[in-house]
Amino acid sequence: MTLVEGSTAALRHRIDSAIARHAPQRADGSWSPVERYLDADRHESELRMVRRWPLATLPVAGLRASGDWAATTVHGVPVLLSRAKDGVLRAFINTCRHRGAALAEDGSRGSDRQRFVCPYHSWTYATDGRCVGRPHDADFPHLDRGHAGLVPLSCAERFGLVWVIADGQIGPFDWDAYFGRFGEEIDTLGFGAETAAPHERTLEQRSNWKLIPEANLETYHFAYAHRETIAGMFHDNLVIHDGQGPNHRMVLPKRSVAELGPTPPALEGFAKALNVVYLFFPSTLVLWEGDHIDAFAVSPIHADACAIRGWLLVPPRHVGRPAEHWQRNFDIFWRTLDEDFALAASMQRGLRSGANRALCFGASEFACQSFHETVERELSIGRP
Ligand code: FES
Ligand SMILES: [Fe+2]
Repeated sequence: MTLVEGSTAALRHRIDSAIARHAPQRADGSWSPVERYLDADRHESELRMVRRWPLATLPVAGLRASGDWAATTVHGVPVLLSRAKDGVLRAFINTCRHRGAALAEDGSRGSDRQRFVCPYHSWTYATDGRCVGRPHDADFPHLDRGHAGLVPLSCAERFGLVWVIADGQIGPFDWDAYFGRFGEEIDTLGFGAETAAPHERTLEQRSNWKLIPEANLETYHFAYAHRETIAGMFHDNLVIHDGQGPNHRMVLPKRSVAELGPTPPALEGFAKALNVVYLFFPSTLVLWEGDHIDAFAVSPIHADACAIRGWLLVPPRHVGRPAEHWQRNFDIFWRTLDEDFALAASMQRGLRSGANRALCFGASEFACQSFHETVERELSIGRP
């Protein structure tokens, strides 16, 4: 079932029966050992694992025209995004093939670029990554210039975001299969190439990265952790969950769903009565709120810290709404997440305290367990 399979009636039926507590989605309780969040060797394995998966990295806005470029970091890997003359947006490891200097400073961006010139010895790359010049070319008989192009990374543009796989060794990646029907659903909601991104936020979070997806895969905590912000809007401890491959979608009904009447309205009207959270494995979260999306991506830094970058995304048909409307939405979203982040930081200290040997997931926290099963499975790939 998707939100956009011709009718919202099936979803409405699931919401109504969940609110009536007819067979709410539950699973057996489970445990998550504290080592998962603390161990330095495990962190290195997880970093290698998450680099094999996509991460949303920057908005497409600002990278639409030929010559647009940006330097960023994806799971610790320096990345250069460049839209060449052929209109294709490409991602490369932002590392010169001579002796490895960065071609552009992390966080920098620009337009009308013709060439990337390494600041160290001036090796020069075209916007499609080819090495097109180097001083004293004859000194390098052992590295053919044709083989000295920038290392490409797999990337895709979806929902107004650029998604990158930071592992340059990975082969062809099936992006359509990855985004699957959840991706088609978000496309249908109007978040295409012209999506605007009026707000962005970056922060460093003092907790293990996995505590952040966990916080977004249950609403058991809403009534308590978010009592000052969003708790009053939502039904307590109630989600309509679907999984697809490693990804999750959770529909969170608001109390106002009762006011909709027996016939569900068109999707955007319906949207006022629910939120939809997508987790694209491993760590990109997309929250659809009707006229906009709040999305954020999480990267491990070390076992006790992660980097978070988020964006407010607005589809073309809503860009005319006043700036204060978007600011207000952005502020409430991040105020709510800051409540989660503060708790995750306290949990991280608690994990190191020795009080618990494992974190305990209850029956309604089943999606957290499912997320961990995927992490464990992915970590086991390539293990001797
Ligand atoms: S490291 Fe780039 S030209 Fe030498
Ligand atoms: Fe939360």
